[in-house]
Amino acid sequence: MYKKFLEMSNTHQNGNAERPLYEPKVLQDIDFDGSHCSTYNPEISHTNPGEGLLMRPLCRGDYDRGYIQLLSQLTTVGDIGQEEFDARYSSMEACLDSYYITVVEDTCTGQVIASGTLVKEQKFIHKCSARGRIEDIVVDNKYRGRQLGKLILDVLTIMSKKVGCYKVSLECKDKLVPFYSQFGYKKEDEQNYMCRRYSD
Ligand SMILES: CC(C)(COP(=O)(O)OP(=O)(O)OC[C@H]1O[C@@H](n2cnc3c(N)ncnc32)[C@H](O)[C@@H]1OP(=O)(O)O)[C@@H](O)C(=O)NCCC(=O)NCCS
Repeated sequence: MYKKFLEMSNTHQNGNAERPLYEPKVLQDIDFDGSHCSTYNPEISHTNPGEGLLMRPLCRGDYDRGYIQLLSQLTTVGDIGQEEFDARYSSMEACLDSYYITVVEDTCTGQVIASGTLVKEQKFIHKCSARGRIEDIVVDNKYRGRQLGKLILDVLTIMSKKVGCYKVSLECKDKLVPFYSQFGYKKEDEQNYMCRRYSD
């Protein structure tokens, strides 16, 4: 199933709506077995996330597969029409090698049921290096407890190194610190997260 998706996305047989946001080979080529941090029982991986499930890059057509509804289980999303979604998708797509939004689709229902974002922020410091930021991890509440949250975190963390980030970070609430610690994330000494909000 995963192979079929790669073939289709490489040849763009499905047109614009199915063109992946980032090169699927980046996901395909990660060394999951040799690099994952969490434990899985039963074993799952990026190429085999579970019966009927497919892990892949986000594509424009995911608007019609419940992607916005999924994100609304994470935070306020608002009423986003197709046009607004398309415009934002296009601007992300234009930032080459920057947005690695990775989703899990339930191929039986045709719905996107989990998602996570790796943003690669390009820098001049550290010899023109890049910093990774992991954001917007969400698993549909009907699919929670099936290790998909762990899988997405492991995959995006491995991917951040593979795409050349010198470090990767994330922000989370206190109650999720144990969840993220298992992937090697630590609170850094004398570092504080500061924020000025302009809206909720
Ligand atoms: C957090 C979230 C992504 C976890 O997804 P999931 O697929 O249910 O998680 P998994 O099945 O991979 O479980 C991973 C482990 O983390 C634990 N865990 C899951 N959610 C947790 C939570 N909210 N707090 C603490 N631990 C949690 C599980 O008990 C499990 O532990 P185990 O491996 O020892 O059994 C999911 O609950 C979610 O989408 N929550 C709403 C959005 C959100 O809060 N996102 C994170 C923003 S920082």
